[in-house]
Amino acid sequence: MKNVLVINYSQTGQLADITAQVVAPLRAAGHQVHLETLVPETPFPWPWPIVDFVDAFPECVQLDPPPIKPMAIPANVDFDLVILTYQVWYLSPALPMTAFLQSAEGKRLIAGKPVVTLVACRNMWLSAQATMKRLIAEAGGQLRDHLAFTDQGHALATFITTPRWVLTGKRNRWLGLPPAGVAPEEIRAASRFGRALADALDHNAERSGQPMLTGLRACTVNPRLALSERAAHRAFKVWSRLIRAFGKRGQWRRRPILLVFALYLITLVLTVVPLSLLLQWLLSPLLAPRLARLRAELEQPSGSQDFKLNNYAQ
Ligand SMILES: Cc1cc2nc3c(=O)[nH]c(=O)nc-3n(C[C@H](O)[C@H](O)[C@H](O)COP(=O)(O)O)c2cc1C
Repeated sequence: MKNVLVINYSQTGQLADITAQVVAPLRAAGHQVHLETLVPETPFPWPWPIVDFVDAFPECVQLDPPPIKPMAIPANVDFDLVILTYQVWYLSPALPMTAFLQSAEGKRLIAGKPVVTLVACRNMWLSAQATMKRLIAEAGGQLRDHLAFTDQGHALATFITTPRWVLTGKRNRWLGLPPAGVAPEEIRAASRFGRALADALDHNAERSGQPMLTGLRACTVNPRLALSERAAHRAFKVWSRLIRAFGKRGQWRRRPILLVFALYLITLVLTVVPLSLLLQWLLSPLLAPRLARLRAELEQPSGSQDFKLNNYAQ
């Protein structure tokens, strides 16, 4: 029997549902799982009023979270494995996860431990995961596996369906576009990771230093999106610093510059993103070898291969 710590936070319950699929087989196999749900001292709204939504941007990117409530994690348990589940806010880990990773208790819990990260978001998680990797390493943890769940629609469709979901709470099929969020069958199929992890723990594989969840299609990277994401993240860093120079979260002083940023964001989505996708498509024969290398590198450590899928499918 092993002790597993799972850190979770979810506004709609989507990430909580995926987490529950991973946790259930671990518990069924007899492992002790402590599931800790992070609670911000001031709750974030759902759905998000547009002003609050844009106003959260600078602190997300600058990793400056508001405080979370004290956690109820037993201090006397030496965890064998830590699973960090998070969603992406503005190409960064959502603020509650950032708060956990920066807290003294979070750092203590991760120090020296094997860590599995699990993300569920629209489709751009690479920059957020790079931040997670850095914060986990700084706390002395060892990132062993990464699982990525993304929204079911095409990248262009989710530019509409995800913001509609976040800003209105509506996620149904609309104007011929698929529902927002991760597909229900993907959520159910997340239990394969719980079964594989239970097996790994039974064989002490968490101590091996190797990934435990390869061959299960853990994370698939679209390298074309990766290039756009890198450019956007660089721009986000500049904008977030600029907006913070005007004032703190919630202050009226920074509203005008937030409006300029919002207009910039909309223009970016309507012009630069489709243009860069078109350009990459036209150049794809030339870019192919570079993109293939980039994809293999970014899918580390768990990868997109599926050679073990049959062993752990329901
Ligand atoms: C403030 C905010 C910013 C977001 N930014 C991104 C983003 O940059 N990339 C992305 O893929 N998803 C983004 N999302 C979508 C979330 O990652 C997630 O899919 C959604 O909020 C549902 O998660 P939950 O219900 O489990 O909390 C954002 C959501 C919010 C609320």
